[in-house]
Amino acid sequence: MILRNAWYVAAWSHEVVENQPLGRMLCDEPIVLWRSAGRAVGLSDRCTHRGVPLSLGKIVDGVLQCGYHGVCFDAQGACVKIPGQGVPQSALPARAYPLVERHGFVWFWFGEAAYADPDLIADAHVADDPGWAAVGERILVEAAHELIIENLNNHSHVQYVHPQIGSAGMADAESHMQRIGDHVESKHWLLNCPAPPHFAKAGNFTGPVDRWFDTTFVPPSTVVLDLGCAVAGTGAPEGNRSEAIAFAQLHLMTPETATTTHYFWVYARNFALSDKAVTEQIRVTAQETFEEDRVILESQQRSLNRDPKAPLMNIAVDATSIVVTRVREEIAARPLRELTPAAR
Ligand code: FES
Ligand SMILES: [Fe+2]
Repeated sequence: MILRNAWYVAAWSHEVVENQPLGRMLCDEPIVLWRSAGRAVGLSDRCTHRGVPLSLGKIVDGVLQCGYHGVCFDAQGACVKIPGQGVPQSALPARAYPLVERHGFVWFWFGEAAYADPDLIADAHVADDPGWAAVGERILVEAAHELIIENLNNHSHVQYVHPQIGSAGMADAESHMQRIGDHVESKHWLLNCPAPPHFAKAGNFTGPVDRWFDTTFVPPSTVVLDLGCAVAGTGAPEGNRSEAIAFAQLHLMTPETATTTHYFWVYARNFALSDKAVTEQIRVTAQETFEEDRVILESQQRSLNRDPKAPLMNIAVDATSIVVTRVREEIAARPLRELTPAAR
């Protein structure tokens, strides 16, 4: 289920450039993005003349010229030139999508344009906050965004899927879940445990640590992770993080189709901010980690496709993702006038 009337990431800002149309399927709709006088713009990627994707065309004198018969559309979607004739008032415009650029991303509004309130955009500040050093990418996952949301809200898989960041005992860690409006938080602690290899290397931990693994779901399809560890017994669970390293992960899932997903991830840290070796280590670990998820998720999607109606059971560690699913269903059923800011 793709939630309508919500902001999704369309692209990294650096992907949207002047004079170069970028065609991308977003929320099952073809959209063409480009930059017009510095501003990111997005139109339906379908010429209103004969339906050819506009992304096959080019930017000429600041407007998008279709690559088939040369009909031109401006940044607002108005049809401004029809070769071989004038532009009659009845010329069909291309649909324009509300876009906002924030924290290094181009966000697009999928739904009724009149409700496109930028206050509803999920908080992604760690992607470009000077207090954090961040790396990030987009990967295309051939699995539904709901499966990725579920994956991220289930802490136990980390133990079994991710040897670099997993810890024995994670599946048994107690979940402290709380729904706050449309957000769902889930917090976990593992005390006095060996540092997982990635954390041990990044933080130079040689002895046992106290580690935390907290998730927050933010509608429509963002999951924020707060994770890290501290030298065991230095008071991290009580709030003292002076002996700790912390990571913030953003997982911004934009459906490409119902069963494929543009997965934008950001892996930010609050230590060794200018150390390029640490940045590279984190990038490599993140790529390996999310590749591990991709293999599982795509296999899961293929398996579900083979027999969509076969029963599945819920187990204890599904508690958070069950609440997240309920929140998404509530939002889907909610009248438009009751849209509430996602990130408050
Ligand atoms: S299809 Fe675009 S101008 Fe004809
Ligand atoms: Fe994972």
